[in-house]
Amino acid sequence: MADENLNPADPPCLHLLSAFLAIEPTDSLIALARVCGEGSVTERVQRFIWSHCISESDGKIHAPYLKSFLKKLITEAELNDCPVLDEIYELYAHYMTQLKDGVAGKETARINKCISFIFPNECLQLSSCPKSRKLLIPLQCSLNMLEGDTGCSVWPSSLYLSECILAFPELFSNRSCFEVGSGVGLVGICLAHVKASEVILSDGDMSTLANMKVNLEASHLSIGTDVQKTIEDPKRVKCIYLPWESAGEEQLRGFKPDIIMGADVIYDPVCLPHLVRVLGSLLNQTKPCSEKQNENRHVSLPESTCATRDIFNVAKQGNEDSSNGFEAFLGKTETNGASSVAVVVSRKGPLALIASVIRNVDTFNYFLSLIDKASLTITDLTETLKPMNLLPYMHSYKRSEIRLFIVSCKHSS
Ligand SMILES: C[S@@+](CC[C@H](N)C(=O)[O-])C[C@H]1O[C@@H](n2cnc3c(N)ncnc32)[C@H](O)[C@@H]1O
Repeated sequence: MADENLNPADPPCLHLLSAFLAIEPTDSLIALARVCGEGSVTERVQRFIWSHCISESDGKIHAPYLKSFLKKLITEAELNDCPVLDEIYELYAHYMTQLKDGVAGKETARINKCISFIFPNECLQLSSCPKSRKLLIPLQCSLNMLEGDTGCSVWPSSLYLSECILAFPELFSNRSCFEVGSGVGLVGICLAHVKASEVILSDGDMSTLANMKVNLEASHLSIGTDVQKTIEDPKRVKCIYLPWESAGEEQLRGFKPDIIMGADVIYDPVCLPHLVRVLGSLLNQTKPCSEKQNENRHVSLPESTCATRDIFNVAKQGNEDSSNGFEAFLGKTETNGASSVAVVVSRKGPLALIASVIRNVDTFNYFLSLIDKASLTITDLTETLKPMNLLPYMHSYKRSEIRLFIVSCKHSS
């Protein structure tokens, strides 16, 4: 029968498949599976899970995770008197004999997940939107977010910065971008995707750097460790070991990025003075005149994808004197009768885009005081530059908890 198979391109199925590949919590998968079956995990839904999620993952999905998902799937189907596919019972029985219950695998073990950025119809005009409307980024990560494996997990702010890069590619393309505390390297992979002219990723943890390189290779990017300009290679990403505590001024002066980025790097008060010094040094760089960019960039987006306000000037939000050399305007424009929002970014010097979940207010206030002492300014852009939601299936990702800030020098000219 033609209607027997669910279509993997239909949003409910696409979301279920994407959540499975991203190793979303298994309860979340069951909720998405119910949507596919209009209320229950019917045989049709199970067949979709079997052929598109389990079989296609080719044994690469973390076994304890798959075992837990199968258990919940069987329980859910039985509760609703839905027959369970033999294949699903058999695979679960196999895991029952192979894996002890409650064993989630070694805490330091790496797992493979895949983040799918899903572009809605209105994004087709974006240069970052692939023809398939889906950008898949494979990542090797740790199951354990803490205890030395901090940089091997995907933190929510890097998902947010990635959405910003993919939603506003014109702000990053042909610009030199430098990330501090890059972790798994997701932001860098997105920057390479939108064709930043240079992508430099850094971290102060060696095992994080090794894991990041695995991820860059999985996305077919070539890796460099030096910072010298080499032959233009859009697929080249530089990875450097850069602990903030020991980063020397001379070393930092060697980088002349247009945009510095950081995701979830404001959490340890001990490291913050060093992080702010690094940001200050990178922001104080001026390019030789020939390379200096003092330009406007215009990005037109459908109205639904941006915060809608009348002209809004970030730099003039506060004190005129604290002009941070960066101005972002949002204004409604009318093209061929279609309403859209234009984001106009004008820049006079390098700027830093920092995304963060504020977990501890005291730590964040300490960061603000250090920023002020370093003669830097910080502006909250969260309500101004809102990326569209490219991860609609990811229920574990609480994008409303993330703030986006611009940091720049007080007196950049
Ligand atoms: C919370 S993780 C965020 C990782 C990544 N940006 C993300 O959002 O997924 C913080 C990152 O900063 C790095 N980091 C922490 N302290 C650092 C330091 N003092 N110098 C350099 N990197 C540091 C860690 O190794 C880790 O990769």
